[in-house]
Amino acid sequence: MRVLTDEDVERTVSLRETIEAVERAFALYSTGKVQMPPRVHVPVHEHNGTILLMPCYVPEMNVFSVKYVTVYPNNPSKGLPTISATLLVSDPATGEPKVLADARAATGMRTGAATAVSIKHLSRSKDGTLGIVGCGYQARWQLRATLEVMRVERLVVHDVVRSRAVDFAEEASRRHGLDAEVAEDIKSLATTSDVIVTVTTSTEPFLRAEWVRPGTHISAIGAFTPQMAELEAELVASAKVVVDSREAAAAEAGDIIQAVQRGLMRWEDVHAELGEIVAGVKRGREGDDEITVFKSVGLAVQDAAVASILLRRVGSD
Ligand SMILES: NC(=O)c1ccc[n+]([C@@H]2O[C@H](COP(=O)([O-])OP(=O)(O)OC[C@H]3O[C@@H](n4cnc5c(N)ncnc54)[C@H](O)[C@@H]3O)[C@@H](O)[C@H]2O)c1
Repeated sequence: MRVLTDEDVERTVSLRETIEAVERAFALYSTGKVQMPPRVHVPVHEHNGTILLMPCYVPEMNVFSVKYVTVYPNNPSKGLPTISATLLVSDPATGEPKVLADARAATGMRTGAATAVSIKHLSRSKDGTLGIVGCGYQARWQLRATLEVMRVERLVVHDVVRSRAVDFAEEASRRHGLDAEVAEDIKSLATTSDVIVTVTTSTEPFLRAEWVRPGTHISAIGAFTPQMAELEAELVASAKVVVDSREAAAAEAGDIIQAVQRGLMRWEDVHAELGEIVAGVKRGREGDDEITVFKSVGLAVQDAAVASILLRRVGSD
């Protein structure tokens, strides 16, 4: 069995091919061609942590993988990453484990890829201003993946911890040559962005409906429990909402769950799964003034998409 570090994974799989694989994986999932049981959440209340187990079999990608991922929002104050993850990849023909990989980078890549696929299918413009709220580890991958599908003329970033936003803006201009600035508040970010990515550990909604311009596309990545939300319920209820999985969203997507609980929308108002749009079963954006929201909770099939590339490339070494 090959054992890979995050650096090995980054060297073995490109972001561009991750985006292509995740796009295909979403379509396979939404057309019933994937076996993906709901992920197991183990709350670790004593330490404000969550442990998640994410198995998935994708026959058309000839891969079975299971990811073990932990989310500990207090870790940065201890100098540790919020997310730790490990991916085990098996050959579905024999069940034999072939690859064991650190999956922090793979998680970043496949999550960035989800935003990229959403921009490809839902964003009005493929250029303009990108706003990113939350400037942690995932934000780096969100930016890199977005740059694969959008010409970012200006980047605006915000974080409750200002120094994180400053570091991220500096890194973005140094690494990607971007015109990057820190927004002092979320309102000024929202009122000037064409695409907004929210990628925080926030439990409270911070993006308000009244700030978001018609035609904006939002990719909401952070919240993954019914109690967490990044988007104000009024914003979710007034937007065209697309999810990664209806089943997973109903169990985990606090942004939508809270809007439904408050009677502002019904589950039937969720327009589509992203994979249905990729597969051509549902339409994407239908007008320049629509506000589109892609709510991602993160699916095991995205990890399987990366796993399939790893298995192909290093699984028989
Ligand atoms: N949808 C998915 O597939 C997926 C995948 C991976 C991670 N995530 C989620 O993304 C989130 C971010 O992960 P990370 O590894 O980047 O964490 P991180 O701790 O490295 O970064 C999160 C950042 O958000 C900031 N933040 C928190 N509340 C905020 C607020 N109200 N306004 C502005 N900024 C705020 C924090 O200060 C921090 O800098 C987590 O909740 C994680 O579970 C989702």
